[in-house]
Amino acid sequence: MLALSSLPCLPPAASTPIGAEVRRGLTSRPKTLSPWLFYDQRGSELFEAITELPEYYLTRTERGLFARCGDDILAAAGSPRLAILELGAGTAAKTGLLLQAAVRRQGSVTYYPIDISASALEHARRNISQQLPQVTVKPRVADYTTSLDVIPSSGCRRLVLYIGSSIGNFDPSQAAALLRALRRRLAPGDLLLLGVDHIKDRGTLLRAYNDAAGVTAEFNRNALLRINRDLGAAFRPRLFRHRALWNEPESRIEMHLESLVPQQVPIPALEIAIQFRRGETIHTENSYKFTPGSVCRLLARCGFSPVQDWTDPRRWFGLYLVAAA
Ligand code: AVI
Repeated sequence: MLALSSLPCLPPAASTPIGAEVRRGLTSRPKTLSPWLFYDQRGSELFEAITELPEYYLTRTERGLFARCGDDILAAAGSPRLAILELGAGTAAKTGLLLQAAVRRQGSVTYYPIDISASALEHARRNISQQLPQVTVKPRVADYTTSLDVIPSSGCRRLVLYIGSSIGNFDPSQAAALLRALRRRLAPGDLLLLGVDHIKDRGTLLRAYNDAAGVTAEFNRNALLRINRDLGAAFRPRLFRHRALWNEPESRIEMHLESLVPQQVPIPALEIAIQFRRGETIHTENSYKFTPGSVCRLLARCGFSPVQDWTDPRRWFGLYLVAAA
């Protein structure tokens, strides 16, 4: 009989997604970490708090567009019955406005929220079912960035929501790969509603990612706390300064963590220690911003044809309805 002590050990931390990402990112030059590391329980709460900040105009502006243009969006989507899917739905806080418009138009609707977080989806299901009994909620727990197999084939035309400027957190080649993969999963005539943040004055952009209350700074540093918890690392988050900068040639806000002192940080689970020079940074996130022209070119390259688009009076945010060509 096999003694317990001779059972194969658990896979080393280095082969878990977080271990692999931390080793890859912190041994690269320059150092990087992928933004998915932000989103543990505390990171998701901090992100929710960011969406309420006076400086973070994105969520408020997009919600205003849904409230003002929801009926127009559903009308532009056309007459056959629609099923609504949402990539990265989270708690679906804003989506209720579009679901209400769908209920006004067709009496009832099936809604498939797709997200990696089962708890966020349960929250979405409970809220929507309570507030909108005409909506049948069918949550799907999945990482849509690695597989879109989870997209249901539906008897009716599908409207996929990819809102909240989420596409902006991907590099252009990754964004195009994701949109092409989505296009391959859709049938001609199925629709996509993409919500993107527009390029605007530098001050407004920078304030949105460097708020006065320091919530975005905490969100950024949360990646370090998560590495401490999951990999036993010894990051002292206060020794890293949050920095947000506007990279104009690349049309993106970048977030970095800058080491305030020379330091060495052990990461026991990976059996490594990472050296930082004073002023050295970890690049933690890109948030790409678009012009109407750059979004339309991206969507056309990925096999979508324009139907209609909407923006707010300041043209800060855009909703682009396109059809699988
Ligand atoms: C989730 N994503 C669209 C946000 C953004 O604006 O890029 C994440 C975020 N990062 C800092 N603040 C908000």
